[in-house]
Amino acid sequence: MLTVNSIAAVRQQIQAWRQQGLSIAFVPTMGNLHAGHLALVEQARQQADKVVVSIFVNPMQFGPNEDFDRYPRTLDEDSAKLEATIDLLFAPPVEEIYPHGHVQATHIEVPEITGILEGEQRPGHFTGVATVVAKLFNIVQADKALFGEKDYQQLQVIRQMAADLCIPIEIIGVATVRESDGLAMSSRNGYLTQSERAVAPKLYQALKQAADALIQGERDYAGLEQSGMAALKQVGFEPEYFAIRAAETLQAPHGNGVGLVVLVAAKLGTTRLIDNLSLSR
Ligand code: PAF
Repeated sequence: MLTVNSIAAVRQQIQAWRQQGLSIAFVPTMGNLHAGHLALVEQARQQADKVVVSIFVNPMQFGPNEDFDRYPRTLDEDSAKLEATIDLLFAPPVEEIYPHGHVQATHIEVPEITGILEGEQRPGHFTGVATVVAKLFNIVQADKALFGEKDYQQLQVIRQMAADLCIPIEIIGVATVRESDGLAMSSRNGYLTQSERAVAPKLYQALKQAADALIQGERDYAGLEQSGMAALKQVGFEPEYFAIRAAETLQAPHGNGVGLVVLVAAKLGTTRLIDNLSLSR
């Protein structure tokens, strides 16, 4: 594994591989890698000749009162996890990606899908994600990029951004990896205290309960959403949304209940967790 910090060094390596006719799969991350990230890398290995991973904690996607400063930065441990399986690690400093600061940098807005759910709770978040991912796509110029389905709305935003900007890349979603008790793997799980960690799997249980009811034919979406919110409050969460949506558009569902996704965001103490369960497959 070659580790580089500069855009020029990435471009040089990519060009060399292209001259050899090799294909490239790309996994953008913010580091603090867990089994969910490693599943992306494993899939990437099967998709292309060379695998590139980026580790960059992107300031543009964090709000002023969010966890940018405390977000775990564990480059040495992450490198050790990737060493045997990837070809190129790109770990740029902030100035390499935003030489004039991220506030001044050109922003990419993805309309409609970013004004709801996560976008409503975290204004500007998806502009930061779309902008940095577009920049990374331009730097790495991979054939394929892989993202976790745990960040379901993010995946839809990135698909739309890449299509709208005519970026020639295939976006692949990879199933959420869960702990044995159902908690979706996330770098933010590390913030949980021991007692919060014991409660955290209830998030998945609430999703599962709603999904099971939908599978059994329940169509009172508002009722299911209210029950989900109430169940989470009862065990100590502060839920922000518990929403049943059309899986492709994330708009309110209508019709026969096919192609739905249940999405949730909730705070447990100071930790904000998100998860979702898709019924579309
Ligand atoms: O999902 C993440 O880790 C980040 O949002 C991403 C896609 C790497 C952009 O910073």
